[in-house]
Amino acid sequence: MAHPQTEVPGQAADFMPLEGWDHVELFVGNAKQAAYWYEHALGFSRAAYAGPETGVRDRASYVLDQGEIRFVLTTALREAHEISHHVARHGDSVKDIALRVPDATEAYRQAVQRGARSVAEPHWVEDEHGGVGLASIATYGDVVHTFVERHEYVGVYLPGYEPIDAPRDPGVGLLAVDHCVGNVELGRMNHWVAFYEQVFGMTEMLHFTDEEISTEYSALMSKVLSDGQGKIKFPINEPAEGKRKSQIEEYLDFHGGPGVQHVAMTTDSIVRTVEELTARGVRFLNTPGAYYDDVADRVGAIEEDYADLARLGILADRDDDGYLLQIFTKTAQDRPTLFFEVIERHGARGFGDGNFKALFEAIEREQAARGNL
Ligand SMILES: [Fe+2]
Repeated sequence: MAHPQTEVPGQAADFMPLEGWDHVELFVGNAKQAAYWYEHALGFSRAAYAGPETGVRDRASYVLDQGEIRFVLTTALREAHEISHHVARHGDSVKDIALRVPDATEAYRQAVQRGARSVAEPHWVEDEHGGVGLASIATYGDVVHTFVERHEYVGVYLPGYEPIDAPRDPGVGLLAVDHCVGNVELGRMNHWVAFYEQVFGMTEMLHFTDEEISTEYSALMSKVLSDGQGKIKFPINEPAEGKRKSQIEEYLDFHGGPGVQHVAMTTDSIVRTVEELTARGVRFLNTPGAYYDDVADRVGAIEEDYADLARLGILADRDDDGYLLQIFTKTAQDRPTLFFEVIERHGARGFGDGNFKALFEAIEREQAARGNL
């Protein structure tokens, strides 16, 4: 079993200060129904809306939040629309990993100067609640990063969105985005590592010590980029030769190229969160029972009861700084593409590399059931 090591990320160059995740926007085929799943299954609450009823003629967007997490689900209302084409190509998928910055114009200027492709030049949007600065650049596939400068803004999301005045869901205990993972083509991982180093001043977190074991079972190569404070973490995967067809290849095949594989969200009580999600109908990857035979030996003493982890299928891993608990949902749409992770960190700053063997055995069983292995 691999023993992951986590290095302290270096201080990112301060030309690109990041204040945190702002929102994750998904382009979907039917935002009204998707919103229902994110609310009723994942425990999000509807915070704002924009669409025909609010004067937007070509699309509908539902803004959902839980803890500090904000998801925006957007659909087009007609075929002849960029969003419709995106959904035809990729299925329901993440379009925008938006980052909060102190100065969107400066972030954009720095990024483009350092080689990023422009998607939207800096612009200012306003309503009676104040103004927000926005600018966007391209990353892998058709995914973009929007820089959001919102210090002056006191509205619920962005100008043009109407707040929803409805009772809030108590939620399932999801607190914040931990990391967003990109899948890229074979041989392209290092290109995108260099992109985040150059454009964002991020540094690579070295977290594999036994690459051979990891790739044999995961059939992927992975590197993780982090900002200087470790708030924003972008793992990048590419397929590798493994025992079976790589799940990354399957993703690229069905997604139609590179894109976001999973979004990990933190909780401070994963047992309660997974119980609640399960009760709401969310389905998780099955963990083989044999995984729990040696998990206590591998991970050691934890605050939780291993019986609860086994009952719910929660994975555990330890690195030099502590331990973490994690679990992965099944894919969130029919295409075997985007899924979600729930993670509870007790000091550990890794990504559960020690779970690769057990996790990817579980993923391969799902892949085989779809006839793609
Ligand atoms: Fe993850």
